[in-house]
Amino acid sequence: MSTIRYENLDVEYKMATGDSILDADLENGVEHTCDCGGNCACSTCKVTVISGAEFLSSQQEDEKDTLDAYGWNPDEYRLACQCIVEGEGRIVLNMPEPE
Ligand code: FES
Repeated sequence: MSTIRYENLDVEYKMATGDSILDADLENGVEHTCDCGGNCACSTCKVTVISGAEFLSSQQEDEKDTLDAYGWNPDEYRLACQCIVEGEGRIVLNMPEPE
């Protein structure tokens, strides 16, 4: 199991590895905008990773391209729909204000 914590929401839950952060958020009652339904096409699911990035799947070109296309720096943001939790650990995030 891994722990997901949203520092700015004061929300914390545990999840199994193998799911995306977006799916885990929605299953755990975290309100998370996802206009394209988790298809790496909108950027509304973006989060910032404070710690625990090593437990997440690496950022692929299509994720970088989508963030770039909407004006978000791929070095600062991840798309929650593209972040698969691969390792067991504590992942601390911030949820940006909705667009
Ligand atoms: S939900 Fe649209 S990019 Fe993640």
